[in-house]
Amino acid sequence: MTLQISPATEADLAAIDEIESLSFKAPWPHETFVGELAREWARIDVGRVDDRIVAFNNYWIVTTEVHILHIATHPAERGRGYGAELLGHALAAAIATGCVLATLEVRRSNKAAIALYERAGFKPVHVRARYYQDDGEDALVMLRGLAPA
Ligand SMILES: CC(C)(COP(=O)(O)OP(=O)(O)OC[C@H]1O[C@@H](n2cnc3c(N)ncnc32)[C@H](O)[C@@H]1OP(=O)(O)O)[C@@H](O)C(=O)NCCC(=O)NCCS
Repeated sequence: MTLQISPATEADLAAIDEIESLSFKAPWPHETFVGELAREWARIDVGRVDDRIVAFNNYWIVTTEVHILHIATHPAERGRGYGAELLGHALAAAIATGCVLATLEVRRSNKAAIALYERAGFKPVHVRARYYQDDGEDALVMLRGLAPA
């Protein structure tokens, strides 16, 4: 299935909220995504299949760095390459604006996400001990250099 990727609008927030609540132990509230839509440096991309939102990616482009905040695919749609496509799209957008580095944090236990990021060229460089406030889990900090194509 072809994934159509576009910038999210307010009309997409209900679908984003649903995927968020199905995907994270401590889901971000609706207001967080409303705020993200308004922030100049923040982007949310949504991926659609047959006009249905199946995944989203929230990231920041700040000067020459892109930071991946929250990427999620609807549980019923995982394993179909949509997460990888959205991530690749964000990295390409970042390169186009002159970014040279991509960064993110991920829960140490999140094997699927770590595999997604490693496959996209990210490497773990640091452990932030007890980074997540809800349960004290460690975060892996992962980086990838971005070279223009
Ligand atoms: C992580 C997540 C976004 C991956 O989305 P997805 O659309 O299923 O990922 P893709 O199908 O594009 O998979 C891309 C690669 O990631 C890896 N991967 C994805 N799911 C995996 C799993 N369950 N186990 C192992 N590797 C996995 C694989 O390397 C895969 O490539 P391959 O299938 O060619 O080997 C999805 O599992 C998710 O929404 N998880 C909950 C939210 C979350 O934890 N987000 C990340 C933290 S911000």
